[in-house]
Amino acid sequence: MLRGINKICGPRSFFMEPYVSSFQLSSHYSSAKPAANAQNLPRLPVPKLSDTLNKYLKTVKPHLKDEEFAITSRLIQSFGAEGGVGQKLQALLEKRAQEHLNWLEEWWLLTAYLGYRDPVVVYSSPGLVFPFRKFNTQNEQLKYAAKTLLAALEYKSLIDSDKIPTEMMGKNPLDMLQYKKIFGTCRIPGDKTDKLSFNDSKYVTVIHNNHIFHVDLWGADNVVLSEDQIVQQLKQVIELSKTPTDNAIGVLTSENRDAWAKAYQLLTKDQVNRESLADIEKSIVVLCLDSAVGLWDNKDKNARQNIAAAQTIHGGGSRSNGSNRWFDKTVQFIVGADGVTGLTYEHSPAEGQPIAVLTDFIINYIDQGKEGKSVSASPKPPVPLKFNVTNEVSALIRTANESLDRLVSNLELNCFTYDKYGKNFIKSQKLSPDSYLQMAMQYAFYRLHKTPGAHYESAATRMYIGGRTETIRSCSIESVEFAKTMLDSQSTPKQKFAALQKAIQGHKDYTVQALQGFGVDRHLLGLKLIAKENGIDIPELYSDAGFVRSAHMRISTSQVACKCDGFMCYGPLVPDGYATCYNPRDNDINFATSAFVSNPETACDKYRAALEQSLQDMHDILLQNTKAKL
Ligand code: COA
Repeated sequence: MLRGINKICGPRSFFMEPYVSSFQLSSHYSSAKPAANAQNLPRLPVPKLSDTLNKYLKTVKPHLKDEEFAITSRLIQSFGAEGGVGQKLQALLEKRAQEHLNWLEEWWLLTAYLGYRDPVVVYSSPGLVFPFRKFNTQNEQLKYAAKTLLAALEYKSLIDSDKIPTEMMGKNPLDMLQYKKIFGTCRIPGDKTDKLSFNDSKYVTVIHNNHIFHVDLWGADNVVLSEDQIVQQLKQVIELSKTPTDNAIGVLTSENRDAWAKAYQLLTKDQVNRESLADIEKSIVVLCLDSAVGLWDNKDKNARQNIAAAQTIHGGGSRSNGSNRWFDKTVQFIVGADGVTGLTYEHSPAEGQPIAVLTDFIINYIDQGKEGKSVSASPKPPVPLKFNVTNEVSALIRTANESLDRLVSNLELNCFTYDKYGKNFIKSQKLSPDSYLQMAMQYAFYRLHKTPGAHYESAATRMYIGGRTETIRSCSIESVEFAKTMLDSQSTPKQKFAALQKAIQGHKDYTVQALQGFGVDRHLLGLKLIAKENGIDIPELYSDAGFVRSAHMRISTSQVACKCDGFMCYGPLVPDGYATCYNPRDNDINFATSAFVSNPETACDKYRAALEQSLQDMHDILLQNTKAKL
């Protein structure tokens, strides 16, 4: 199995063994698990087999020579033939769809996340960088941290009381259940499969210098602490953890999931450890009070963006803040001593969008100078969480430090604000900003590598109950034609404009279908998983060059839109790929790109330059076209 395929909203499942039978949600508080389909949303459809197969053939074409395409076409024909295996699997899948509210939801959670064994760090958990702050004193850092926690509490209470406005896609309401899963949630490592634990509690976990604390946000009088009181709690935490501990238990959560599961089993043999682990599991969120990383030594925003992205993805490794983490927790706020602020989120319970909305809420809360409304008469002091660390666990911590440092040194980042234009310009040209940006990435990749790049974009399928994502296959016959036309010195501006429009329209059409659950990837995954479940041989289609190449996503992308000047970031899906997460704003676009250092073919700085050049070229073509019309 390829390392590095495990990424944000990614198609990991095509390459993996599903662990379907051992699935179990451990729910400590049933209130955290909302009633099923309270919004009365429609069910995820199973597309018609012939529609998916025809669409699929179109998407594999850019990746195949003519003779290979002929082989794939024959395979598809026999797969979909009357009485063939495709129809048999389709019937089984349709039966499953009648029996489940969402035929994919449980499979997806297991195959894409909980059964996946690579570390969540770099391979699965995104970082989200908040707008920069400059903390001149420790008090400023702690005040910011306290405000972040109070804002999160306010947001949580809106979620708990169903006061978050239902998001809409056109006239369709979106499934809001993901919002209920971001607080109090923790991933628990297990043998072959992890579990999710949903909880409701009144405290947070605070980590400083790798020491872990229980910090109550409510006093003994059941009143929420004021901002100043939380600052006092955090000061006590700092007082109690002046030097970093070598027994940095948190780094174990950055390990390969099997290694972490083994360490977890060893730890839980001890009663004290069991209590400490349960305490972390049940807390609302983790707050990481990080050490300084020289953020403001850099005048250049781009350099600061890279530092902050690294801190939110992996914490900079064991010698920086990488052990000052609990990567299993869904939300870990990061507040660094010199102004890196943001969060790391464990991806299994939710997509990036609820996290981005939470981010905007927090930033607004802070920028509006809001403070908590209550003062507790009896705050409870922070409690250090104790761990009894055996020699065996100590050795695993040392190994985890080394593994994390390898991950860190292999991830190259280039995060930047493209400030020449944003969504407004693209809209003014009567084009879809998202499709336009996707085509810019296609063009950039082709410009650099002179070959079509299989390209993953996540589309939300939240118009259905339990919906997560579908893949938009952004690499298309039209996108490749567009890139070639742009790079051909013989092409006229009119031809370039026409190719751009066609490519954007092609992407938009696919997007609309994907949003409605009619992409090809989840359906093909479903047919594969139902075959496995029923002991039917996996059809040849899944090992064919068309499938393998079109699913080897060399460009892994996701739009995670927030209004503030922040951005989400993550690692690539495949060893020879790039990740690009982007936040298109009215007049600029934040891009976070990454690649693996170990791959000689990819280089983030070159990819960024190609992307910026592509955006410029496309802008110029549009303006030339407008002038030609005048
Ligand atoms: N002319 C003018 N304006 C247009 C246009 C056109 N031809 N086409 C679109 N627009 C406008 C839209 O009306 C919209 O306007 P708004 O800003 O007022 O809302 C805006 O441009 C953006 O639309 P567009 O760029 O086409 O798409 P989108 O923002 O809806 O994004 C997806 C498309 C696929 C990214 C989005 O639907 C989605 O699924 N997002 C979630 C992805 C996800 O799950 N990410 C997290 C994974 S962890």
